[in-house]
Amino acid sequence: MKHISRLLTTASILMLALVAGCGKNDSAGNAGPKSPGSAADKIKIGFIVKQPEEPWFQLEWKFAQQAADELKFDLVKIGAVDGEKALTAIDNLAAQKAQGLIICTPDTRLGPALATKAKAANIKLLTVDDQFLGADGKAMADVHHLGISARNIGRMVGKALAEEMKKRGWNAAETALCAMTYEELATARERTDGAIETLSATGFTNEAIFKAAQKTTDIPGAFDAANIVLTQHAGVKHWLICGNNDTAVMGAVRAMEGRGFAAGNVIGIGINGSDDCIAEFKKPTVTGFFASVLLSAKRHGQETSEMMFNWIKNGVEPPKATYTDGVLITRETYQKILKEQGM
Ligand code: GLA
Repeated sequence: MKHISRLLTTASILMLALVAGCGKNDSAGNAGPKSPGSAADKIKIGFIVKQPEEPWFQLEWKFAQQAADELKFDLVKIGAVDGEKALTAIDNLAAQKAQGLIICTPDTRLGPALATKAKAANIKLLTVDDQFLGADGKAMADVHHLGISARNIGRMVGKALAEEMKKRGWNAAETALCAMTYEELATARERTDGAIETLSATGFTNEAIFKAAQKTTDIPGAFDAANIVLTQHAGVKHWLICGNNDTAVMGAVRAMEGRGFAAGNVIGIGINGSDDCIAEFKKPTVTGFFASVLLSAKRHGQETSEMMFNWIKNGVEPPKATYTDGVLITRETYQKILKEQGM
């Protein structure tokens, strides 16, 4: 009898231990006791970028990591250079039980597929830089987004081009604009349209505006596109250059150098103001890369991460759309401005 009751007691202790263990299942479904604040408790957020080699995206990741270190969440950085990689990346994040995703997609037209995948995996979604396009070709306003005020920033470029051209006393008849375009991307189109619009408003004629359509958004893509324009318009003496970003303008500047244009005959104004642009300003000899609009990589990397963390942890939904601005930097002003911006 005594033997049986001891057996029963052992059995009930075992049962209790099992029940207690089950109660401690973590969000990943793994049973087992764990201490508060352990790795399994940590919020996990993915940060996918389309061009991991571009300094802009490296800076964005750097600031996202700062937010992760401060707020103590796991940041999973993934470079996805094409649509297939972006879709697979969401599957991987889902398998890792990530609760949030910040993404600059390599293809904005994949918006609906990416959003559906994230939703099915219960992953909160925030697009950064490049906004998703719906099946109707319009921006998906229901997906939270943080990007730049693209048209305004393009206008800043146009205004600065016009001012510098005037300062150099260039003759309008000998001057043309080489607009580095990538029109399939809405933010890029808005930027170059903004620059063209403002330049035109200063009296710059349409006949002197040449679009160089890039096939790819890297330096070789810009270099090749600019070379076509330079071949077609060999009589132009002074060139203005605008584009989607620093990479686009830099490719065009290199093409012009290759054709013997001196820096004094080229005014290239980029957008981003990240490491590659600063390296250009630091060169001992002045180049045709005259200026850039410095954007806030900090806001794009850190603020998006904080927004996502807050959304997951405290249920605070970020604004549907946030637009950031920029400030013009040149070889002369960049050090002062970077310092003012705390960079
Ligand atoms: C786009 C560009 C990047 C950068 C971001 C800023 O994604 O390709 O170089 O300018 O926008 O939002």
